[in-house]
Amino acid sequence: MQLDVFTLVPHAFASMFELRPLAAVLGSELEVRLLGYRETTPLRAGQVDDEPYGGGAGMVLRVDVVAAALDAAYGEHRDHPVVALTPRGRQLTQDVVEELAGYERLTLLSARFEGFDERVLEHLATDAISIGPYVLSGGELPAMVIIDAIARRLPGALGNEQSGVEESFSKELEGGLEYPHYTRPPEFRGWRVPDVLLSGDHARIAVWRREQSRLRSAA
Ligand SMILES: C[S@@+](CC[C@H](N)C(=O)[O-])C[C@H]1O[C@@H](n2cnc3c(N)ncnc32)[C@H](O)[C@@H]1O
Repeated sequence: MQLDVFTLVPHAFASMFELRPLAAVLGSELEVRLLGYRETTPLRAGQVDDEPYGGGAGMVLRVDVVAAALDAAYGEHRDHPVVALTPRGRQLTQDVVEELAGYERLTLLSARFEGFDERVLEHLATDAISIGPYVLSGGELPAMVIIDAIARRLPGALGNEQSGVEESFSKELEGGLEYPHYTRPPEFRGWRVPDVLLSGDHARIAVWRREQSRLRSAA
């Protein structure tokens, strides 16, 4: 998969590339390019934003700047999804992550300050995604959230492929939450691990886990 992120602060992503599972798939299943709007802006002195028409606080990322960045990367004809990251996009869910992970090529557009000129959303982006109903200072964290969630779904990302199968929101758990996990010691300060998990009876353990998952999901 080729994943391109357009951003005002490419260096913000540096530390995430060292982390698994992303590090495990970079260069094999996944190529990530960080593209700075300032590198291709047609305006002088690296300008990328401007004051909002009608007045008001903050600066708006210009449509001609975003168009120039996309044209420089792909030419004028694009046939892959271009996703604008914005609080007013459709909400990111595991189903959306699965959808995004299925593309061979994906572009994420991030903004800062007041956000995008509306024409970016109307004419340049093909989709808009929000990572939740709250406002962050820029699209870099949303982009990193999406990159990490996609990377987990790619072959070879997880040490044990099974850990990506029975996970919260997976179809194996009927879209519900994962069951609780415990490890050693079996008792700590009087807090005991449920007996069933120590029983060695894998059929009973599987039934218990499904029950716990359903209980959590119904709560
Ligand atoms: C400070 S925000 C702009 C908020 C905008 N003025 C509003 O009220 O909706 C700057 C940028 O951060 C990104 N951003 C902030 N919160 C986000 C969220 N919940 N999901 C996705 N992107 C977000 C977007 O790229 C947005 O354009």
